[in-house]
Amino acid sequence: MMKTISAIGGAAALALSAAVVTADPVDDTLILNEELELVTRTTAPAHVEELDEVLSGWLFRGTETRAMQADDFDNPGMIFVEKALEAWDTAEGSEGKSCASCHDAAETMAGVRPVYPKWNEAAGEVRTLEMQVNDCRTSRMGAEAWKYAGGDMVNMIALLSSVSRGLPVNVAIDGPVQSMWEQGKELYYTRTGQLELSCANCHEENNGNMIRADHLSQGQINGFPVYRLKNTKLNAVHSRFKGCIRDTRAETYSPGSPEFVALELYVGSRGNGLSVEGPSVRN
Ligand code: HEC
Ligand code: HEC
Repeated sequence: MMKTISAIGGAAALALSAAVVTADPVDDTLILNEELELVTRTTAPAHVEELDEVLSGWLFRGTETRAMQADDFDNPGMIFVEKALEAWDTAEGSEGKSCASCHDAAETMAGVRPVYPKWNEAAGEVRTLEMQVNDCRTSRMGAEAWKYAGGDMVNMIALLSSVSRGLPVNVAIDGPVQSMWEQGKELYYTRTGQLELSCANCHEENNGNMIRADHLSQGQINGFPVYRLKNTKLNAVHSRFKGCIRDTRAETYSPGSPEFVALELYVGSRGNGLSVEGPSVRN
């Protein structure tokens, strides 16, 4: 079925309408390793007024891709989790400490992923998980910061996500984070680039539609980092944001920039109630 998208700007409507075909997300249940049932579809949080339900990107992927994510032996992202486990136990920096020296087993981090980005009172800032890890590296280990969306970091974020799989995303949106959350929301609804498209134009108004060969999801981040079959590596949230903005032919922000931290805070909160899935598998 062809469907014209009237709510969006001229150039964009042309670019999209030629390619848009409606295709519903699948009706399937994600059971991890035949034992843990994950929430991939739930009632939208009250602050997401335009959606009734929030859906994991997993529901928009093909049968084989979904199956790969359901079994840790088939999920290529888990290889990188193994690498991060080695890094977890490796002492680095002037203090001669590893992550394990202070945090014991990585499993003690269960419950941390779902609430990030979050406010750090002592630092007086909103921190992503990446910022927190780098703070531990620089101020507690005396080690070099990792590149924000580089391999070492994305592996560690995959490890931290993996131990929280199945727990509901629960990003706070009020109190000291509120102004940054508002900023993220504004970015989400701002049209950018020659195509004059906002995140919402694609992921809120058109999820379920096909755009070229891609089945548009809600652009949720509960599955990050994602192993992409396309580039055969783990991809960080901010790398995905960057790619999506670049696709509208706009100048984009850098991974770790305040704009992307705000956007992550907002987009993360749109997935409140979905299970943490990372590392997930995507096209
Ligand atoms: C010298 C001790 C020390 C080392 C080594 C250390 N951390 Fe931490 N880490 C802490 C302390 C203390 C906190 C809580 C401080 C805060 O809130 O700022 C913390 C907080 C965290 C948190 C946030 C937990 C939460 O509940 O929000 C994460 C994630 C984390 N560390 C990851 C790591 C990783 C990954 C490494 C290794 C690369 C590491 N840490 C190395 C001491 C350490
Ligand atoms: C022109 C349409 C378009 C725009 C505009 C767009 N995206 Fe995307 N985005 C896509 C496509 C296509 C994919 C890959 C299929 C999918 O997962 O939806 C994608 C994937 C994603 C994913 C991965 C979801 C997953 O589960 O793997 C996230 C997150 C995302 N986008 C966030 C954003 C954000 C935030 C913005 C605004 C800064 C944005 N996108 C703007 C088209 C778009």
